[in-house]
Amino acid sequence: PVEGTKFADNNLPGAISVIAIAERGNLFNAPETYMNKIATGKVEDNLIDLDYPLKKNLSNLADFKNKDLTDITACILDRPRHKKIITSLNKMSVKLKLISDGDISGVIYAVDKNSSFDMYIVIGGGPEGVLAAAALSCYGGQIQTRLILNSAEIIRAKKMGITNINKKYNLDEMVRGDVMFCATAITDADLADGIKSKKDYFEATTIALHKDGKINKLIKNRHYK
Ligand code: FBP
Repeated sequence: PVEGTKFADNNLPGAISVIAIAERGNLFNAPETYMNKIATGKVEDNLIDLDYPLKKNLSNLADFKNKDLTDITACILDRPRHKKIITSLNKMSVKLKLISDGDISGVIYAVDKNSSFDMYIVIGGGPEGVLAAAALSCYGGQIQTRLILNSAEIIRAKKMGITNINKKYNLDEMVRGDVMFCATAITDADLADGIKSKKDYFEATTIALHKDGKINKLIKNRHYK
């Protein structure tokens, strides 16, 4: 899918086209519903948990990273539904990065050693959660998610084989075994340059990750007109 359809529509930075590839059945088939997500880079097990109070997650992460709480940067989608979380983060004087769209990029920023973000917290799309988990599985990092379902969505989820609708998913339950993840920037993104129209060709830049192959490449392709 294209992530950041509004960005692509309006020629704004941040639209990417993404794909995750694994053996059949190894990617969680998440319904098109909202999902709670919390993601960080590589940390010890049980340091971060969706069921911990926000402050505990952030303090644990700050201790682990040897930082003050006020030096931790949390990234979150700028949505009215996140008002309570944003207010709590401000009260704790945690640094805040609000993004207008793009869960997958948000998660990648949170795990990227070159970015200044420490954690991504969001209620965002379910399928985006799985795609982000695929990228994270290659980079190394942690993500925990839980679907948010209304009554009609519960019926749909059950038809898709989800029996425990309150289940909390860890990374290895969303992405099993080996996985590849690619993201091609459509418009310029922090992750890669957007599509460039040259005289004879279009140039596309893709981040290509392969977990077992330990591949993390930035690839430029020319598509001749
Ligand atoms: P689209 O590319 O489908 O527009 O999704 C962008 C996105 O920001 C996702 O990354 C995120 O999960 C979702 O929208 C959040 O949904 P909403 O816009 O309803 O808050």
